Amino acid sequence: MKLLDGKLVSAKIKEDIKEESAAFLASTGRRPHLVAILVGNDGASETYVASKMRNCELVGFESTNIHYPADISEEALIDKIKELNADERVDGMIVQLPLPKHIDPDRVTEAIDYRKDVDGFHPINLGRMQRNLPCFIPATPYGILLMLEYYGINTTGMHAVVVGRSNIVGSPMSILLARNTNPGNCTVTLTHSRTKNIKEEILRADIIVAAIGKKHFITADMVKEGAIVIDVGINREISNETKSGYKLYGDVDFEQVAPRSSWITPVPGGVGLMTIVGLLKNTLEAAKKSVY
Ligand code: GUN
Repeated sequence: MKLLDGKLVSAKIKEDIKEESAAFLASTGRRPHLVAILVGNDGASETYVASKMRNCELVGFESTNIHYPADISEEALIDKIKELNADERVDGMIVQLPLPKHIDPDRVTEAIDYRKDVDGFHPINLGRMQRNLPCFIPATPYGILLMLEYYGINTTGMHAVVVGRSNIVGSPMSILLARNTNPGNCTVTLTHSRTKNIKEEILRADIIVAAIGKKHFITADMVKEGAIVIDVGINREISNETKSGYKLYGDVDFEQVAPRSSWITPVPGGVGLMTIVGLLKNTLEAAKKSVY
């Protein structure tokens, strides 16, 4: 078993981003600028956005966090997005999900100029991604590809089983792994809550991407000997063992599964750190206008 070390890989890539950010500042007189909009007071979302902002500072980006109360109207939120679309000082923007129930996430996503959609959630970016055209790739799948690339893992011909069909991870990951590139070139099975015999499906995998949001859902009896295991789960439980007051658990029971796997990501210290790298890379590309 070998560890896919998000701490190591994210630190290395962030060093490169920091250099490119400094070069961008030297040639343009300004920094790449990410705006994050947070609605309401979801504790996990607040933590994620704070971490995104902190990482922007670390690599020399400008960052702005706009925090609205949970009762903001959809119209007011979309008006703000339109204002940011037109603002030349803003390179990328994200609206942290989930949103309160009275706001339609699809309408919000489509309001963002696709050229500033550094989350890669806009249908134009998703469509272009499927065609293998220049686009913004959603941050978590992008981070996973960067991790596989860093370790030189060739996924060509593998059977990939993605567990979970969310718009943020499972669905785009399944598209990316099926593309005619490496990492990719996989035969992909996308499984979800309605899949029959999910254990048998997962057992066929050479590479498993677990993005279900259920603590320790993947157990050793579901994993083929030698499989690559990518754990996207960040399940938070209150704990007095840690400084933050929370303990994080993956969707994979790491202790059980690690001895059967060839490569595996830990939680924490795996995919979560790579998600930030994906977002930073997209923001830099948006600033440099190297995609659109
Ligand atoms: N919520 C969970 N992951 C993400 C993400 O990558 N982007 C946004 N905007 N919201 C999220």
